Amino acid sequence: MKKTKTANNILVIHGPNLNMLGKREPEKYGSLSLEKINRNLKSQGKKLGLEVETFQSNQEGLIVEKIQKAMGTFSGLIINPAAYTHTSVAIRDALLLLDIPVIEVHISNIYKRESFRHRSMMADVVTGQVSGLGPGGYGLALAAMAEMVN
Ligand code: DQA
Repeated sequence: MKKTKTANNILVIHGPNLNMLGKREPEKYGSLSLEKINRNLKSQGKKLGLEVETFQSNQEGLIVEKIQKAMGTFSGLIINPAAYTHTSVAIRDALLLLDIPVIEVHISNIYKRESFRHRSMMADVVTGQVSGLGPGGYGLALAAMAEMVN
C-alpha cells in the first residue's frame, strides 16, 4: 500500500556504515547504536507531534529510490548520506526532486577532517546542515524540522 502523507511525518535516512554506529570509530562517532539513535528520534518526534520513519542502507541506489518515494509522502527529510556525501551526484539529484525541508546531518565535523570530506555534494541543495555535534545532531535537526513543518 502506498504511504500517504500524514500531517507531519519525517523521514530519516542513514547512509553506508552508519548501521555500525557504536562499534565504528567511537572516538569520532560516539557509542550510541543506530537502533538507539532511531528510538530516541521516534520518541522525541512523538513529543514534537512528528511521526518519524527511519531507513538505513549501504547502497546508493536504494537511498536514491527511498528519496524518490519520499516525494509527496513526507513533510521533511533528515539525511546523513555518510561517505556518499562526498561523491554522490545521484543522491544530490534525487534530493532536487523534493520540495520539502531537507536537513543534512553529520555526526563528526566534516570540515575538521581529511580534505576529501570538506566537500559535500548536498550542502547547496539542502535547507541546512548540522555537522560535528555528535549523535545529538540528529535530535537538533528534528527540533529544527518541527519548527519548519508545524
Ligand atoms: C559522516 C562523515 C562522513 O565523512 C563519513 O564518511 C561518514 C559519517 C558523519 O556522520 O560524520 O560515514 O557522515
